[in-house]
Amino acid sequence: MESQRRTKVKVLLGLKSSNKEILIKGWVRTKRGSKNAVFIAVNDGSTIHNIQVVVSPELFSEELIKRITTGASIAVTGLWVASLGTGQTKELQAKTLTVLGDANPDTYPLQSKRHSLEFLREIAHLRPRTNTMGAIFRIRHAVAFAIHQFFHDKGFFYFNSPLLTTSDAEGAGETFKVTTLNLEKTPMNEVGKVNYREDFFEKETNLTVSGQLEGELAALALSEIYTFGPTFRAENSNTTRHLAEFWMVEPEMAFYDLKDNMDLAEEMLKYLVKYTLEHCKDDLTFLEKREIEEQKNKPIAERNEQPLLDRLRVILAGDFERISYTDAFYILRNSKPNKKKKFQFLIDSWGSDLQSEHERFLVEKHFKKPVIIHDYPKEIKSFYMRLNDDHKTVGAMDVLFPGIGEIIGGSQREERLDVLMERMEEKRIPASEMDWFLDTRRFGTVEHSGFGLGFERIILFLTGMSNIRDVIPFPRTPGNCEY
Ligand code: 4AD
Ligand code: MG
Repeated sequence: MESQRRTKVKVLLGLKSSNKEILIKGWVRTKRGSKNAVFIAVNDGSTIHNIQVVVSPELFSEELIKRITTGASIAVTGLWVASLGTGQTKELQAKTLTVLGDANPDTYPLQSKRHSLEFLREIAHLRPRTNTMGAIFRIRHAVAFAIHQFFHDKGFFYFNSPLLTTSDAEGAGETFKVTTLNLEKTPMNEVGKVNYREDFFEKETNLTVSGQLEGELAALALSEIYTFGPTFRAENSNTTRHLAEFWMVEPEMAFYDLKDNMDLAEEMLKYLVKYTLEHCKDDLTFLEKREIEEQKNKPIAERNEQPLLDRLRVILAGDFERISYTDAFYILRNSKPNKKKKFQFLIDSWGSDLQSEHERFLVEKHFKKPVIIHDYPKEIKSFYMRLNDDHKTVGAMDVLFPGIGEIIGGSQREERLDVLMERMEEKRIPASEMDWFLDTRRFGTVEHSGFGLGFERIILFLTGMSNIRDVIPFPRTPGNCEY
């Protein structure tokens, strides 16, 4: 048996029956049986589907069969033959059977019944063994792969921005500090502040909140790049849409204006949805059924009107709606929930930020499709966005998705050195710290644009899950950094 190659369950399910002996390895999902035959459902994570192993009790010791319990890992060799039972067309008839690792049924935490997602988060080491998490992690892989494929095919270069940095790209002050200073005995300087010159980098350092600014340096040399990596934000928002550690995809393109930027964002999102529909059919079908089951316990008003796969197909069906902030503002101000004071944050004066309830109203109730809002008031957006001729708005764009709200945030960048420096002054960002960035505007500056896609937010949409913590292997949120 040692020399024989393992066949993955996914591959085996596609094979015709034959007289050749097959070896599989995996984890026991269920075991049932009688005196004449024992049936074991085995999964190896390669697909949502299990295979059925049939064991004749007379061929093996009673003690061995007893060790085949839910969660145990086993190796089986046998013939792949037509199945007599219903539920599967073929099954593996066991010739040899080895328990690789026992799983004590008295203490194994996963049972074949449905567990709550909250409970599963507490057993992160076994969470990937569930159907739901397996499906999600396989889809995560497929979408990550599709992102690289999409940009590679367009001639973009994958560029690695640093995780350790001294800049706060978004200027929102939501950074995690990185230090090797002894926190019990912090060195102080003459004016009573922490003396970072004694720290590892001899400067105040943090984890990145965005790779954009470094990405801009690359775009102004390689033309079209994208970053794809972990991002850290210490915002204390305990919502179903926020993580303290999430992954972001940030393309940055020279010679693109705001419209080119929106076109690329829409094309990319459609590509990812189409790719997932084409490559993750089994996992999506499983998640769709799961959602329908789960919604039976919810009040009708809270249920999704459309099943998951239909919601994905809607994205491909037509153009996204594109409207300015100002138009969105008037639609919202005149909307029923605003007039009836149903919004938690009422829309009253031009210039206020849009909340997730407003974004979702526009997408789910008003337009019933994805919406791109562009040209936002400069006060509510970052310093690097290009100032429009009205001097009130900037060339920003947010893509809003059904059930999610903001999935992408981006803009055309301010390429004019003098305007940019004025904007930095307004936002109290010290130019002296940003020379490395401003140099791009000093030497051969060009029109350029980019955006950031929240990777977990697109996975949330594609899987129909309702909490962002359930689409990342190890969620980090306020008060929660286990494993
Ligand atoms: O809108 P944001 O803050 O934009 C930027 O960071 C820009 N530098 C991007 C760029 O232009 N290159 O974040 C971009 C996206 C959001 O639309 C959202 O999808 C996601 O990142 N995001 C989060 N996802 C999970 N948890 C959080 N705490 C997130 N914060 C932002
Ligand atoms: Mg944003």
